[in-house]
Amino acid sequence: MSDTPASALGDLSPEVFLRDYWQKKPLLIRQAFAGYESPLSPDELAGLALEEEVESRIILTHGKTPWELRQGPFGEDDFKTLPEQDWTLLVQAVDQFVPEVAELKSAFRFLPSWRIDDIMISYAAPGGSVGPHFDNYDVFLLQAHGRRRWKIGQHCTPESPLLAHPDLRILQDFEQQQEWVLEPGDMLYIPPGVAHYGIAEDECMTYSVGFRAPSHQEILLHFTDFLGQYLNDQDRYSDAGMPVPAHPAAIDDASIERLQGIVLELVQDKAALATWFGRFMTEPRYPEMLQAQEFESHLLQEELDNGYGLTRNPNARLAYREEGEEHVMLFATGEHCLLPATLLPQVQLICEQEYLEPETLLSWRQNPEAWTLLEQLLAKGDLLLEGEDE
Ligand code: SIN
Ligand code: CO
Repeated sequence: MSDTPASALGDLSPEVFLRDYWQKKPLLIRQAFAGYESPLSPDELAGLALEEEVESRIILTHGKTPWELRQGPFGEDDFKTLPEQDWTLLVQAVDQFVPEVAELKSAFRFLPSWRIDDIMISYAAPGGSVGPHFDNYDVFLLQAHGRRRWKIGQHCTPESPLLAHPDLRILQDFEQQQEWVLEPGDMLYIPPGVAHYGIAEDECMTYSVGFRAPSHQEILLHFTDFLGQYLNDQDRYSDAGMPVPAHPAAIDDASIERLQGIVLELVQDKAALATWFGRFMTEPRYPEMLQAQEFESHLLQEELDNGYGLTRNPNARLAYREEGEEHVMLFATGEHCLLPATLLPQVQLICEQEYLEPETLLSWRQNPEAWTLLEQLLAKGDLLLEGEDE
């Protein structure tokens, strides 16, 4: 088993990290995960890449073309024909399939949990690389096995020139500024837009803890889609009392200002924005892995009496928001539920603990609302009776 430290920042305080580095500049943390042992072996990672429901890719530096991309799922023979060096296998969202990998996320509690996207794992043969590139999101790169040389480059923009490649966004120019060799347990933080270029010194594995930040396009499109459901057909553009137009075909400023007024009033609905955002940020990556289940309520009592607790489904995303003095809004995998504020301590535990102890939960038996909430989350598949995910 691997040891997950309480915080991934080593000696650095979360306050200093957030003030000086987060979203600003790269940071190397030597032995952030001292003695870390990858819970997955390279063979097990390759095994995941054979599965239909897992997203995987192989990048060969000198393939049929430079930086050849092969898309998974792969067959066993695909691995047999790979060269000795200069290729990388990348498997997305491994935390959704392997609970031991999901545990790593608990070392990032100094950041909002709903900002974490997933954990991608790469295995590289010596010399393997995905090329110089930048990502649009923050990433922590944990060296889990072997050594990788990381070169850090310039701050990029959407205009930074890329190689003409049909699928990969590889930078045409890489202006190296720093270079480090990472050993197992070392971790590198890279903010969005900073060029980075990792090359395997020897056979190695890197875990990428990636963060999600919706684009402005996504925010506008998805929020207005959500808001639209609650609007009626009768509230319309209106121009009562307007002056006689000098030119009937002209769209004047006053008309645009009327429109602006409508849009601004609608987007100022903070409660609607919060509800949409909580739902959006907790949408599951693989909804098919979170199925509603037949759930018999006596099972919960029995399970707890037998000393078993409840675990979070690795595919579940949970968050909450306090709504004034009276309510707390729970967001669970893309849905929301308004609860009385008295349930706040229980909601916090459910959202923040990977495992809920039976002793804690048995004390909720006296609180029918808390008990019903547990039953609902079990029925929805967000929580699992211990052992169900094995
Ligand atoms: C890798 O693991 O090779 C690539 C990770 C990254 O650059 O984001
Ligand atoms: Co990257």
